Amino acid sequence: MKEKIEQIKNSALQEISKITELQNANDIRVKYLGKKGELTAVLRSMGGLSAEERPVIGSLVNEVKDEIEEKLQEIEKGLKQKELNKKLEKEKIDITLPSTKIRRGSKHPINRVIEEIEDIFVSMGYDVVPGPELETDEYCFERLNLPKGHPARDMQDSFYITSEYLLRTQTSAVQARAMVENKEKTPIRIICPGKTYRRDDDATHSHQFGQVEGLVIDENISLADLKGTLEVFVRKLLGENSKLRFRPSYFPFTEPSYEVDVSCFKCGGKGCNLCKQTGWIEILGSGIVHPNVLKMNGYDPEKYSGFAFGTGLDRIAMFKYGITDIRLLYTNDIRFLNQFDRKDDC
Ligand code: DAH
Repeated sequence: MKEKIEQIKNSALQEISKITELQNANDIRVKYLGKKGELTAVLRSMGGLSAEERPVIGSLVNEVKDEIEEKLQEIEKGLKQKELNKKLEKEKIDITLPSTKIRRGSKHPINRVIEEIEDIFVSMGYDVVPGPELETDEYCFERLNLPKGHPARDMQDSFYITSEYLLRTQTSAVQARAMVENKEKTPIRIICPGKTYRRDDDATHSHQFGQVEGLVIDENISLADLKGTLEVFVRKLLGENSKLRFRPSYFPFTEPSYEVDVSCFKCGGKGCNLCKQTGWIEILGSGIVHPNVLKMNGYDPEKYSGFAFGTGLDRIAMFKYGITDIRLLYTNDIRFLNQFDRKDDC
């Protein structure tokens, strides 16, 4: 029996030495050590041996089993390493290759201006409020002292959806909303940046444009408050040396009303092509809230007064960044937008 075991061992070791693939190793394990394997068969046939022989043969079989298993493991380890090396070789990364460039977007000039304006007013305690772009005639005009048939409506050629709904022509509509929605009729201090729409289309007018509306209502609000606020606003936005000029004007929702000019930030007021040699650039409409508007929207004009202003975002962006055609702001031309890199946002 010893010879038989020796024979099995030799043939197993010989087969093992020829193994080239992992799967073969397992086949050999099954063939010799498995439940129906050759060595197991020897163990099973030990019944016919004498009591002295049994332990001797038993331990011999176990020794051979261990040896075969050890050899198998050794060869398996080698084969696994070889496989891994092959894989690593195949998947080698060339770190000297140039990487693919990640193309970052940049902030649109209008959004830059909005964020700057919001920062300025939030620092003065204002809330930034939204309003609907699809507005009613009532909020866009009537509640702002512009009844149907009012001649000042002609200045705002509108996109009517129905006879009652239109795309808002001015963010001033939010003034009325803020007053009506404030049920307790407490003081108001808001700005509302947003999109507005009119039937215009040339180098300085687009059918869509941006405005920021401002509204303050409290007790004892006067023209001095409006002037002071706009001075802070314009100096922060366009430069500390900016001067303001208030020109009397007319808006149905303010009385008195002013158009506000800022000293030209290109030439400092001397006269250049930007300010058309006048030294001034018109940037705002403003005034003291008309008592009719207060009354119509639930505020007592005997107790409260307020100021309002509205400015065009596109004009400001065009001045700030030297953009000559308003339509560039809305045509999404990558060559135009690329110029506003994020570099100086950080
Ligand atoms: N809504 C006006 C416009 O689009 C601008 C404006 C003027 C807004 C005077 C105001 C204001 O709040 O007081 O032309």
